[in-house]
Amino acid sequence: MGREPQALPLKVLAAEFVTSATSVAGVPSDPGPRIALVGRSNVGKSSLINALAGRAIARTSATPGRTRLANFYRVTLAASAGAGGRRSIVYLVDLPGYGYARGGHGAQFAFAQLAEELFAEKGLAAALLVVDARHPGLDADRRARDWLAGRGLAFGVVATKVDKLSRAERARAIREIAATLEGPALAFSAATGEGRDELWSMIAELGRARAERPARE
Ligand code: GTP
Ligand code: MG
Repeated sequence: MGREPQALPLKVLAAEFVTSATSVAGVPSDPGPRIALVGRSNVGKSSLINALAGRAIARTSATPGRTRLANFYRVTLAASAGAGGRRSIVYLVDLPGYGYARGGHGAQFAFAQLAEELFAEKGLAAALLVVDARHPGLDADRRARDWLAGRGLAFGVVATKVDKLSRAERARAIREIAATLEGPALAFSAATGEGRDELWSMIAELGRARAERPARE
């Protein structure tokens, strides 16, 4: 995995697993925006968290359906040059993937129900919709997009595994994903670290979008 130090706009001071929740009862209540990772099983959500954190805090696996609970990770960030040691905290929430065939209908429902509760009751700030750059336009991703949009949630689309595509294929894939999911898609690779800075910027923006939104009734 790409771990070369880069000139990051944000520096990760600490990153750790906090808790796994099967229901809203177990969710941490301290402040800090919560960004949920939404995407098909095996798409690379946990790998993306590790790439963002710059360390392996989330369990990844070639076997789909690895993440079955909502796993909360706390990332402490420092703004780099001249920010006078200012810190901020962001929670990344790894949700179970959807579209995992062996889990069948029940597993799909478990995802929707948990996600529904978390977004409604626990102030999940926003989501990253993670899709596979090699498979633009999947129905399941389109439904997830509609689910997020239908709830008025701020979300950004991340097309991961771009390392598996040529330059030309990648450009086409990003265009197709943007068209089918009706918004810009960010090219990302957990394997090479490509897109990491841009993704942190997207997360910062999503956190702000939430802060500016009026509280729910
Ligand atoms: P579930 O927890 O089952 O929903 O899966 P997940 O979305 O968390 O996927 P995970 O991060 O476990 O990654 C699944 C597989 O894809 C693993 O074998 C990863 O090594 C691989 N993978 C993830 N991201 C990338 C990437 O950017 N590039 C490449 N080449 N492989 C990746
Ligand atoms: Mg996972």
